[in-house]
Amino acid sequence: MLLAETIDMLNVRPGLTYVDATAGAGGHLSAIYNAAGGAAKVVGIDQDPASLEALRKRAPDDITLLHSNFRYLKETLAQSGINTVDGGILADLGVSSMQIDRSERGFSFQKDGPLDMRMDTTQSLSAYDIVNGWKEEALANIIFEYGEERYSRRIARRILEARPIKTTLELSEIVSRCVPRGSDKKSRKNFSKESGGEGGAGQRMAHSAIHPATRTFQALRMAVNEELPALKEFLQESLSILEPGARLVLITFHSLEDRVVKQFFKQAALSCVCPPRMPQCACNKHSELEIITRKPLTASSQEILANTRSRSAKLRAGQKLI
Ligand SMILES: C[S@@+](CC[C@H](N)C(=O)[O-])C[C@H]1O[C@@H](n2cnc3c(N)ncnc32)[C@H](O)[C@@H]1O
Repeated sequence: MLLAETIDMLNVRPGLTYVDATAGAGGHLSAIYNAAGGAAKVVGIDQDPASLEALRKRAPDDITLLHSNFRYLKETLAQSGINTVDGGILADLGVSSMQIDRSERGFSFQKDGPLDMRMDTTQSLSAYDIVNGWKEEALANIIFEYGEERYSRRIARRILEARPIKTTLELSEIVSRCVPRGSDKKSRKNFSKESGGEGGAGQRMAHSAIHPATRTFQALRMAVNEELPALKEFLQESLSILEPGARLVLITFHSLEDRVVKQFFKQAALSCVCPPRMPQCACNKHSELEIITRKPLTASSQEILANTRSRSAKLRAGQKLI
């Protein structure tokens, strides 16, 4: 996704170190490797052990593959002897096709599977624990906050009444009964990878309405994997480990993620955070990042035609200053 744009924004050159913090199926990883003619140090990180295992079988031996959550970027890289990154860091956020397509992973509301949704299958918290164990208010809050679902309270109440809920289709049916189809124009417009992360069905639904369980499933996935807190920590860690001139590239798929990245970039680019009425700067802040993409890059119409999931991808890039 946004492959050429990513390579361009990372400014890939031989001899430098590049980290793909969301290696997935290795598409971006191999593009980085090839763009440097196999002469860069390339590191791939993913928290999904199965993705990493599959990648290990295909990747060239000189690519380093590490199982970790990118929120621990510095520590993870330090364990491989990397303390700074002089080329660039990439994160292509969200779930992979492999994760969605495998019903046993429990990400899909269209295929029956266990309520799992863990990207890192070694962690203990799963969607089952949240759906069957959290208090009604906490459940409603995450569905509202992470799913931007206006029927969150009704959904949480019905979930509690139906407990125990064991499978994705059971949950999908319960949620569907709470949400009028096609009731939310804004969400329809924002049809995203997560929401429509269900292959071709996404394209079909985008013309009518998104599936009523879309937003609830997105919310649960984000809660299970602590996606927004991990993203905030990753951004901070990346900025502190990049050398001047190195690049940071993020690809997001929904407005909540993009907002976090946009605000982080904006904050990092500021050279002063003193209150406006201060006569003189006293904050000692300096600009740490030059924003390269004033507006996020989006997929071309050809890419969207070939891959409907790319329609909501947004790429933001920055260059470390000092
Ligand atoms: C959209 S896919 C990346 C696809 C990849 N760029 C490619 O070309 O194949 C996202 C991947 O990031 C991983 N991931 C998501 N959040 C992560 C995190 N906090 N730490 C490490 N990996 C993460 C997921 O497990 C998934 O494999």
